[in-house]
Amino acid sequence: MVDLTTEYLGLKLKNPLVPSASPLSRSVESARALEDAGAAALVMYSLFEEDLRGDAMDMERSLIDHAIAQAAAAGMNAQHFRYRSGLDLYLEQIAALKSSLEIPVIASLNGVDMTDWVAAGRQLEQAGADALELNVYYIAADAAQTPESIEGRFIYLLNSLRAAVSLPITMKVSPYFCALPSFLQKLEANGAGAVVLFNRFFQPDIDLDTLSLSDQHLLSGPSERLLAMRWISLLYGRTGLKLAASGGVFTWQDSVKMLLSGADVVHMTSALLQYGPGRLSETLAGITAWMEEKQFATLDAFRGRLSQQAAADTSALTREGYVMLLDNYATRSEDA
Ligand SMILES: Cc1cc2nc3c(=O)[nH]c(=O)nc-3n(C[C@H](O)[C@H](O)[C@H](O)COP(=O)(O)O)c2cc1C
Repeated sequence: MVDLTTEYLGLKLKNPLVPSASPLSRSVESARALEDAGAAALVMYSLFEEDLRGDAMDMERSLIDHAIAQAAAAGMNAQHFRYRSGLDLYLEQIAALKSSLEIPVIASLNGVDMTDWVAAGRQLEQAGADALELNVYYIAADAAQTPESIEGRFIYLLNSLRAAVSLPITMKVSPYFCALPSFLQKLEANGAGAVVLFNRFFQPDIDLDTLSLSDQHLLSGPSERLLAMRWISLLYGRTGLKLAASGGVFTWQDSVKMLLSGADVVHMTSALLQYGPGRLSETLAGITAWMEEKQFATLDAFRGRLSQQAAADTSALTREGYVMLLDNYATRSEDA
């Protein structure tokens, strides 16, 4: 019998599979289906800064006040009209998930502006969240923003959240930092407990008929896994942050590779949206069978074995590997 337990954000998890933020946590039924399939914890869909902005809330409140007044004037009972802000709804959903699930629930805040919206974290904590994820979904396209100011934005928001809550915090970051290890050191020094590698920016396509930007590609593909895998390999053993692998994990093989690279937990979203919760139980069964076959009794017996720190030859992770790859390709082409 293998032991799949792992630790993440101060939580002892029964296995490393954690569905990441997605609409699957919007209904208690779909969240329970994930728990039944074996999920060890659940990251909720994000509460967006935009949902918390005063102007949006004021507008909604005035619309509802107007509807109540109209209903009352028409002699209707307006008791069922109730103003519920994005925050109210989110808090209700945390409470609903907490009362129906046994697994830990990680609430997610998503925003970029340096205002005090992160103070909502306190309410997420009071509503029962077990930990918080902060996704600073910031597309750094403004030439006036320097690397320092962009990193500073993350640190400022992390510090503000840190000051508001005592819960462990994980930062969901994009791969587009020019000095990722140094940036992650700063996040750790400012109180992050973990990092999610990586946040995925949605990418719009172009419609050649209408000459306009077309639908975004919401779901990822399996090849996206390689990016997180490399960085987890490079970071394992070199940071005190727990490492959550995210992006392109579709199968048990993908999950095992993330663990071999050094991940503490493995996230899945697109695979679960595409194939349903059954994909999670299949993944769990696959990891278990592989560990039994290889006679690994615990995750720590093989975690990080193919990280840069531990593997015998890790040149493939670095520039050296790139040069060799191109050399070999050129030689092969000449031989052909
Ligand atoms: C439909 C959909 C909704 C998502 N909603 C959120 C969200 O609310 N907050 C967030 O941080 N990430 C959100 N994500 C991103 C996922 O959590 C995940 O980071 C991304 O899909 C990459 O992982 P995957 O390859 O396993 O899908 C969403 C992704 C999808 C496809």
